[in-house]
Amino acid sequence: MSDAPLDHGIPNPLREQPDFAIPAPLEAEINELITHYPQKRSASLMLLHAMQEHFGHVSRQAVEWIAAKLELQPINVYELVTFYPMFHLKPVGKHHLKVCRTLSCALGGSHKLHEHFCRKLGLDPHAHGAQTTKDGQFTVEFVECLASCGTAPVMMCNDTFHEGVSEKKADEILKQCQQQPSP
Ligand code: FES
Repeated sequence: MSDAPLDHGIPNPLREQPDFAIPAPLEAEINELITHYPQKRSASLMLLHAMQEHFGHVSRQAVEWIAAKLELQPINVYELVTFYPMFHLKPVGKHHLKVCRTLSCALGGSHKLHEHFCRKLGLDPHAHGAQTTKDGQFTVEFVECLASCGTAPVMMCNDTFHEGVSEKKADEILKQCQQQPSP
């Protein structure tokens, strides 16, 4: 039998965040959120949302911090982050464009719409997964049904919902984003 070490490393998609630190207001918000639940662990999703809202994504350090806070193992939090598509495992752009690709929207032209955004922003329309422009301004991503199948093609720009999005409307959305002042 070989003495070579076994290497069964499981790929971990979480990013490192070396400067991770929880500011006092965020910790106060988290402490308050936990009080809403009879069991601490039930607050897991809310804490992940709070973390993502603050940092823009969920890092390995954030997962471990939440686990410790809720007296869980990191795997208990990790499995949530990697299951639910609304959690970002890496930073996304200031403007996050989510184009629905499920059946009604696919039939209604969402693939062309996604391609249109990619071409306008210098991204690869055939690449898998979310893509972010080099300047960090835009992320373009396909998502599953956004629950407005009758008004396809449908998309979201951050938290704003857009229905029946033509290429002309897509250009208007991009223009509005580009006109927003930087924070
Ligand atoms: S298929 Fe796009 S919103 Fe349902």
